[in-house]
Amino acid sequence: MRTPIIAGNWKMNGSLALLEDFGHAFSEAALPESIEVVILPPFPYLANADEAFEASLVQLGAQTVNPEEQGAFTGEVSASMLKEFGVRFVLVGHSERRTLFREDDSAVLARARAALNSGLTPILCVGETLEEREAGRTESIVLGQIDAVLGELDSQQRRELVIAYEPVWAIGTGRTATPEQAQQVHAAIRQHLHAYEHELGNGVRLLYGGSMKADNAAQLLAQPDIDGGLIGGASLKTDDFLAICHAAG
Ligand code: PGA
Repeated sequence: MRTPIIAGNWKMNGSLALLEDFGHAFSEAALPESIEVVILPPFPYLANADEAFEASLVQLGAQTVNPEEQGAFTGEVSASMLKEFGVRFVLVGHSERRTLFREDDSAVLARARAALNSGLTPILCVGETLEEREAGRTESIVLGQIDAVLGELDSQQRRELVIAYEPVWAIGTGRTATPEQAQQVHAAIRQHLHAYEHELGNGVRLLYGGSMKADNAAQLLAQPDIDGGLIGGASLKTDDFLAICHAAG
């Protein structure tokens, strides 16, 4: 059985006050024990988040990591620094990083390696644009992004990854993939993982991301190959995010 993950990517949003709200809401409300819950706040809030979620089941994630260990890389943060603040997960290849910060497949691979070398779990994000979908290229784009990373890792490292399928046209647009559309791509990803190694296909958790909300989460999460969600906008409201956690539990 794959344990579902619900991960909240705050992006460049939030505040100390919001963190405090989450700390209260998530320590008081019983989260389902059958799932993992991860919150990924901006870097400056990690220390406070580590404290705020100390008594809860919430785990911490970061939104990116630099491939280098240390040095003259102004503005950047390394995996070992994240570890010092209790971070367990890190996003790599989010479409906003790929587009706005020009991170290509080799940059994504370098970040995934840095995370794995420090014992962090990379959440590898993949997804097609609307144009690519309409041209019938969804699977080749998504599987290509996966191969660019998995093809360079060893079998043990591959098993440590989490993969998030996030159609670019569904991120922050309010336009969600239908459960059938999402399941179709998830099934193709899982089949592709099986081709690497049977156990890999069975074990790797595949999250869906892109306008997942309290009112559509249950249907998406009910799909056989969807093992959780990566949530942006709806992870900024305690009630909405809790409702999504309960839809997974
Ligand atoms: P969204 O973002 O839920 O606001 O669409 C998802 C993401 O970017 O991970």
